[in-house]
Amino acid sequence: MIVRPCAPVNGTILTPGDKSLSHRIALLASLCEGVSHVRGFLRSEDTGIILEALSALGASHAWAEDLLTIRGARWRRPQQALDLGNSGTGMRLLAGLLAGQPFATRLTGDRSLSSRPMRRIAEPLRLMGATVELTEPGGTAPLRIIGGELRGIEYHTPVASAQVKSCVLLAGLFAEGRTRLSEPAATRDHTERVLRALGVAVRNEGTRIELDGYGSAGPRLKARDWTVPRDFSSAAFWIAMAAAWPGARLTLPGVGINPRRAALLGVLNRMGACLLVTPEPDDGSGEPVATIQVEGAELHGTEVGGAEIPDLIDELPLVAVLGALAKGRTTIRDAAELRVKESDRIASVVDNLRRFGADAEARDDGLSVQGPVTPRGGVGIDSYGDHRLPMAMSLLALRATGPVQFDDVGCMAKSYPDFWRDLRKVGGDAG
Ligand code: S3P
Repeated sequence: MIVRPCAPVNGTILTPGDKSLSHRIALLASLCEGVSHVRGFLRSEDTGIILEALSALGASHAWAEDLLTIRGARWRRPQQALDLGNSGTGMRLLAGLLAGQPFATRLTGDRSLSSRPMRRIAEPLRLMGATVELTEPGGTAPLRIIGGELRGIEYHTPVASAQVKSCVLLAGLFAEGRTRLSEPAATRDHTERVLRALGVAVRNEGTRIELDGYGSAGPRLKARDWTVPRDFSSAAFWIAMAAAWPGARLTLPGVGINPRRAALLGVLNRMGACLLVTPEPDDGSGEPVATIQVEGAELHGTEVGGAEIPDLIDELPLVAVLGALAKGRTTIRDAAELRVKESDRIASVVDNLRRFGADAEARDDGLSVQGPVTPRGGVGIDSYGDHRLPMAMSLLALRATGPVQFDDVGCMAKSYPDFWRDLRKVGGDAG
């Protein structure tokens, strides 16, 4: 893909459905009694993979235009290993539910997923009574889960990870007794919201969450209809693109602004951005939704770190790009988790920023970048097979001194298959 410099973007973009929420709804709807209808479900590689895995477990689904129908079932042992592709959310959340099923399942993933840490879920699932075999010495996938009788545990997650929290909570549904969890910092709470919408009493106070298990038979959940808001993390590329580009103006309707996801808005405000967030009426998704309007401005650098990090974990590559466009220094700290995302996002972001000529430096737990840079054209960008990188780097390419070549962009289908089409819609030049 070649991206060419152009005039500031302008228009309205309808971004795809929320990936995190789509995963949770698919997983739980496939255990419900009856048929669930889902509007706004993300159609992408990651969510296609989880739907296929759920079909192999006995649930079924069908699309009618944009409406997804999921028929729940009592899960059965799959005929073969379940391949979760690139989906960390898929693998870790599914593992939690499989820990409570009376059969063995093998979970595999692609090269990137097979390098990501899985001991973080194996440990609590083992404490609950499941057998979790990690066949690789580094504690990575493939993994084999032999589910069975689980007991509730009291567990402190050493990393602030919604995937780990969700894995334990989902296993906790099939446990005898209470599962109590605490985390070092609050993480996205979509699992808790979806469970509550299904009638499960999930209690939480700050960083502590608990639920009572239903025993090995599991909960009897009734199917219902869902609406999935548009993904904040996908909207974030556009919000950041317009915010840092004087003359740009974009409108993003229907975006989920769960406070555990949308901390980028606060960061942008600190950087001097011009944003208008107008709440939309409750759409039945159980999530706050808003229209976000952005007008370009000259931004200045900022620092992000501490408890803010989990609330913008997927937007940190964008914060780095914003830092390159803003005046002054931008520093990201306390974000060592970036090392174990779809790529090592500290190394991959710094490498790509430097290709554009930015003065960027990696730290063990983050990075720093000195702006503003005039992005160099005529360079090539490496996606590292990580969907969020080319989208973040496109902000710089559109403002570069010449065309920029993007290699290996197939990975963007994981969360945002139509990104380039949407870019062209608002005046971007990508082809
Ligand atoms: C996700 C949680 C985050 C995030 C990922 C999706 C989720 O991962 O980075 O893209 O859906 O729960 P961690 O929980 O590992 O931080």
